[in-house]
Amino acid sequence: MTGHPLRRRLVWIVVALVFGVTAALAVVSAVALRSTLSDELDQQLELASERAATTPQGPPGSGGEHVPLGQAAGTVGVYYDDGEVVDAGYVDDAGKFQPLDAEQLAALEDLPQDGKIHTVELPGLGTFRAVTAHAPHGDAVITALSDDGITGTVGSYVTVEVALAGAGVVLAGVAATVLVRRALRPLDRVAVTARQVSELPLDSGAVGHIPRVPPALAAERGEVGAVGAAFNRMIAHVETALSARHESEQQVRRFVADASHELRTPLASIRGYAELVRRSPDEVPPAATHAIGRVESEARRMTGLVDDLLLLARLDAGRPLERAPVDLAGLAVDAIADAHAAGPDHVWRLDLGARPRPLLVDGDDARLRQVLANLLGNARVHTPAGTTVTVSGRRRGGDVVLSVADDGPGIAADQLPGLFQRFSRADTARNRTGGSTGLGLAIAEAIVHAHGGTIAAESWAPTWTFQAAASPTRERRNSREGTTFTVRLPALTAGAQVEHSPARAGSPTVAV
Ligand SMILES: Nc1ncnc2c1ncn2[C@@H]1O[C@H](COP(=O)(O)OP(=O)(O)O)[C@@H](O)[C@H]1O
Ligand SMILES: [Mg+2]
Repeated sequence: MTGHPLRRRLVWIVVALVFGVTAALAVVSAVALRSTLSDELDQQLELASERAATTPQGPPGSGGEHVPLGQAAGTVGVYYDDGEVVDAGYVDDAGKFQPLDAEQLAALEDLPQDGKIHTVELPGLGTFRAVTAHAPHGDAVITALSDDGITGTVGSYVTVEVALAGAGVVLAGVAATVLVRRALRPLDRVAVTARQVSELPLDSGAVGHIPRVPPALAAERGEVGAVGAAFNRMIAHVETALSARHESEQQVRRFVADASHELRTPLASIRGYAELVRRSPDEVPPAATHAIGRVESEARRMTGLVDDLLLLARLDAGRPLERAPVDLAGLAVDAIADAHAAGPDHVWRLDLGARPRPLLVDGDDARLRQVLANLLGNARVHTPAGTTVTVSGRRRGGDVVLSVADDGPGIAADQLPGLFQRFSRADTARNRTGGSTGLGLAIAEAIVHAHGGTIAAESWAPTWTFQAAASPTRERRNSREGTTFTVRLPALTAGAQVEHSPARAGSPTVAV
């Protein structure tokens, strides 16, 4: 029953209870038996003592004329005459009077002769109960009866009790195991269902049918049925809530997509008219030229923003991507060339290993280009001139790993966790006006995820530390600084058949 602590505990409780009760019963009944037998022995002793003191003595026995008549086997007697011991012995099993030895006699004589019953150990004969009585003529008689019979009886009684208790405990253990297992088995069903539910991807997307506890189990009376029914009610509630959430998410996405789409046309008009004015042959005052230039650049920025929003909304909606073999090495070469043209003040490096090979993935060429463009754009925009940016690409196991590493100022540690969130800008003050939207990394992440890949950021920001007060030079504590973005995508093995997503199942498969 490993792995079922409740069951084990229940069985142990039953076994412990049975053991405790039988042990208590055994102890109490053994004590009661012993005390009853002792009382009986004491009564017999009283009678024997009376008999010894009052009945006429028998004929001289084996060395004693005081041997009492009618005493049972095992009865010990010590007879005094004028304060002197005249005879001391016990009746043996054959009814003969056997003399006591000196030690045994001494033990008996040591007892207080007060008419009360005392326990005495007679060497060689065992434990006895003894009492002194005075015969009518004044002479004392000590009578003793063996206690060993009682000890033997109680002993065998306890032996039987222990055997019975052991059997009872084993039986209780077996019965409790079977019963507890049977009673708790329905809970296992509930646990299995709960585990199935916990493995469902409920955090996003449409929610299908969530498994329930079998209705027969939920309808059962008793605690397990109640748990099952409550579980099913909870699942129904969760299902409704998740569908409502999904529905409202879809609405918001549709709204964002529609809104961005609708904004593109007026933005194009604004740009067009601004350009028209700027190129107009008529004389335009310089202030107006400046203003028109600003209108144009802001309209361009807004177009970029709207395009980003539209793309994100489409990626959110889970629109199927174009799927074709894409060589990321080629993409990296193009991206580096573009970046070099856009940022001639940076140092751009490409590292595809000693023997460059195509880095094939199954994906959407335009979207993957955008990921690289966003990462390289960031390395250009968010680092000072002179920064070295290295794009490297490698096959790692079944993945293609692309990384964009710069040795710029890095990103503060507290900004890293939310870096891929929408509208997150690590350096708010610097970039709000400089064409920064805070959507670039969110888009890159959405595209990579849509390809079944991962993207991660590592950054080492400088931590300035003052040395001693005597030398006020500032030292950089970090040995390295800069930012590295790592994109990992499932590789497409050369020669493999490209499996297309169900949305494009109709198109022919492509052999690479
Ligand atoms: N290579 C980098 N070096 C330093 N900071 C960076 C780098 N890449 C991204 N960041 C920070 O992450 C923020 C988010 O980037 P991104 O989502 O592309 O938005 P945007 O570039 O539009 O600001 C940027 O605002 C910038 O502060
Ligand atoms: Mg960016």
